[in-house]
Amino acid sequence: MKKILITRRLLKECEEKASKAFDANFNSNDELYTQKKVIEMSQGCDGILSSLTEKLDAETINKLPESIKIISNFAVGFGNIDLDAAKKRGIVVTNTPDVLTDATAEIGILLILGACRRVPEGIQGAKDCNWKWSADYLIGKQLTGARLGILGMGRIGQKIAIVAKSLGMIIHYHNRSKLSADKENGATYHDSLKSLMSVSDVLSVCCPASNETINLINKENIEYLPKGAVVTNVARGDIVDDDALIDALERRKVYAVGLDVYKGEPNLNPGYLKFKQAFILPHLGSATKETRTAMGNLAIDNIEEFFKTGNCKNRVN
Ligand code: GLV
Repeated sequence: MKKILITRRLLKECEEKASKAFDANFNSNDELYTQKKVIEMSQGCDGILSSLTEKLDAETINKLPESIKIISNFAVGFGNIDLDAAKKRGIVVTNTPDVLTDATAEIGILLILGACRRVPEGIQGAKDCNWKWSADYLIGKQLTGARLGILGMGRIGQKIAIVAKSLGMIIHYHNRSKLSADKENGATYHDSLKSLMSVSDVLSVCCPASNETINLINKENIEYLPKGAVVTNVARGDIVDDDALIDALERRKVYAVGLDVYKGEPNLNPGYLKFKQAFILPHLGSATKETRTAMGNLAIDNIEEFFKTGNCKNRVN
């Protein structure tokens, strides 16, 4: 039986499955392992089932024992893992695509609605019993007819586009390449980020974090947005330069933000705190029972497939 380090607790059903499939080394307290601890705990293991909370950079990967052959990440994103360093060490890295598309797109839509319709202020007013209905109370931005710019039209971006379109939004997107007509589903392609930004009444960041996308939403690019645009991020915090976005809120260049992810999670940049127009969630994208179960099962299946066949369809390096 293969010995696998499972760095974070999984849902019960998945831990049961892992116990049957492997000699599983669970993290019973669900503590956050430091890089040193991951190295220590992986001694004698054949693989690691990791989560986005472990930063497996080159230095950490180079110190993993020779016996580690696979890192199966419990996430679709794998910006927490240095893929090249893993490849050099002959370690296969896998992710959990598809199964979390719908749940994450739901949060993507929630961010758009929450930011456009002033949900943080509404919740506060209701809880404080400190509001009075009036024709102009908490007037927000209507989605119908607004242009939604999707940065990264992958699986999650496409699903957000379908729902947003059904709400009457007009969809634009920027991707490395133009999609086929069926995937595009009537959306307008922009071959540059600047072109996309300039038509985005609402921006939805859906692209993976990588060396090319770090701080892509920065001071310079934000200036291309129409005045009073809404910026949402359901992907990874690293893609947004928080200081630039906070400055844009301050100047009212940006009307509101909706963030499910941010740099340095869980430590939110305090600059956001003073803005009532900041609708911010604690990385809930895939957090439904169905989805987290499917992700856990897939992360386990990826390891089993790899040890059975020497490869894995969800390999990313
Ligand atoms: C969640 O953020 C994921 O990448 O799966």
